[in-house]
Amino acid sequence: MHIGFIGSGNLALYVAKGLVRSGAIRASQIIASTPETKKATVKEIKQLGVKFTKDNKVTVQESKLLVLAVKPKIIPFVLDELHSFITKDHLVVSFAAGVNIASIEKKLQADAKVMRGMTNTCCAVTEGATVYATGKNATDEDCQVVEQIFGRVGTVEEVEEAHIDAVTGLSGSGPAYAFEAIEALSDGAVKMGLPRGLALRLGAQSLIGAGRMLLDTGKHPGELKDAICSPEGATIYALHHLEKGGFRSLLIDAVEASCCRTRELQVQGSEEETDQESIKRSIREDFLEQNGILKRESG
Ligand SMILES: NC(=O)c1ccc[n+]([C@@H]2O[C@H](COP(=O)([O-])OP(=O)(O)OC[C@H]3O[C@@H](n4cnc5c(N)ncnc54)[C@H](OP(=O)(O)O)[C@@H]3O)[C@@H](O)[C@H]2O)c1
Repeated sequence: MHIGFIGSGNLALYVAKGLVRSGAIRASQIIASTPETKKATVKEIKQLGVKFTKDNKVTVQESKLLVLAVKPKIIPFVLDELHSFITKDHLVVSFAAGVNIASIEKKLQADAKVMRGMTNTCCAVTEGATVYATGKNATDEDCQVVEQIFGRVGTVEEVEEAHIDAVTGLSGSGPAYAFEAIEALSDGAVKMGLPRGLALRLGAQSLIGAGRMLLDTGKHPGELKDAICSPEGATIYALHHLEKGGFRSLLIDAVEASCCRTRELQVQGSEEETDQESIKRSIREDFLEQNGILKRESG
């Protein structure tokens, strides 16, 4: 199995990093493309030993599992560029927030196998959370491929496509909420005298431990929380402050905001309203190259 990433930004980098580090696949079996080569993520992708090209078509030709890792508004344009190169032997998995399966299938050949997924950057440390939904031509075997590959970099499960926007608000954006929480918790500890490094390590480990405990015990989070709150103890005093500040309500709002924004992105991804400047750089470069105006760098 060769995996190709269309787009070489953060998502491609973090997923590729996890795949290589977990031993799921050799770096030489991964190829990534993007028109711009000077980005930091491109440099890191190359450092992993992943093959890199400026030409999306080469990525398509050299891979069987094709991961779409460009911004939602770019999706229609890369599909226009690549539709005649994507065959029924490819499995196309899009992680573009809000871009639905139907809008991708519409742009590809009738027998194209498409899935829509959502994952997160924690794939890099094999703690990602991936879900996927299948398009009309994707088979059980394709599901197994996705589960085997993404199962090496975290959890993976099939969901209804209708759930993916909410998943984006929860676990797609989730690591960002966690990083904010760890930073703020460590600020509190620094305020009370701890050195920053120790505060960050303890804050991070508290989140890791709590998540692990919830998953391993299967207990309701309220029950696990109650076990930490002894009567008149420190934790219940702290939780009262969180309640007064609207902590839980804020988190609910955050997931809702991310989910709603994802739905807005769907409009961009399917209605092709994108400005010319931000899109077809690879396509425009083809034109310039064909007319002898641009000489492409190799690799
Ligand atoms: N980051 C996350 O945590 C996360 C999680 C789940 C899903 N996603 C989804 O994954 C996708 C990528 O997100 P990201 O965070 O990786 O964004 P990003 O860092 O901006 O990466 C997007 C990549 O696509 C490249 N690109 C632009 N036009 C292209 C073209 N015509 N052909 C090929 N590549 C092109 C960009 O190049 P330039 O930088 O030169 O423009 C960049 O390398 C988005 O749709 C997002 O919704 C992201």
